[in-house]
Amino acid sequence: MNAPLIHRPIALVGLPGAGKTTIGARLAGQLGLPFFDSDEEIGRETGETIANLFATHGEAHFRILERQTIDRLLGTAPLILATGGGAMAEAATRRILLTRATIVWLDAPPPILAARLEGQKDRPLLAGNLEQRLEELQAGRQALYRAATHRIDAAPPQNAVVAAILSALAD
Ligand code: S3P
Repeated sequence: MNAPLIHRPIALVGLPGAGKTTIGARLAGQLGLPFFDSDEEIGRETGETIANLFATHGEAHFRILERQTIDRLLGTAPLILATGGGAMAEAATRRILLTRATIVWLDAPPPILAARLEGQKDRPLLAGNLEQRLEELQAGRQALYRAATHRIDAAPPQNAVVAAILSALAD
């Protein structure tokens, strides 16, 4: 299949562990587009890890940085943007995403996400029982993720997920 022509930014949304960063980078490679990850950008700009930002300045401060970063990255030029899992849960950030990007929701069940994230300690909102925390985040966010342009099953292997996104974008 020829790569679909992309005319505007594409944002990947979904819970932690859905593969937004790795799949986003692969998608960008296949489409010949620049790739950005909002958490990485925030880390680069502040010189802090996301965990440190949460610990020192709190989640509300992180959400402001996240909104500003996503606002800056989403112009009119086509690119692939991996967002943090909570970006769609913030009204102002969601509005920016919905108006300026084609949104791809990578959806996978919490037990699969928990298995992928096992042993990783860098996500402050996932402290405690990992699978239970993911269930809670999913319950609060699912209706918001549903506003995405495309819902893609993110449980299969990554090459299949990338192929499913390319096919959805070509429709
Ligand atoms: C968050 C997800 C993280 C990061 C921050 C908050 C969330 O990104 O933005 O820890 O609210 O779900 P990933 O989805 O890449 O893990």
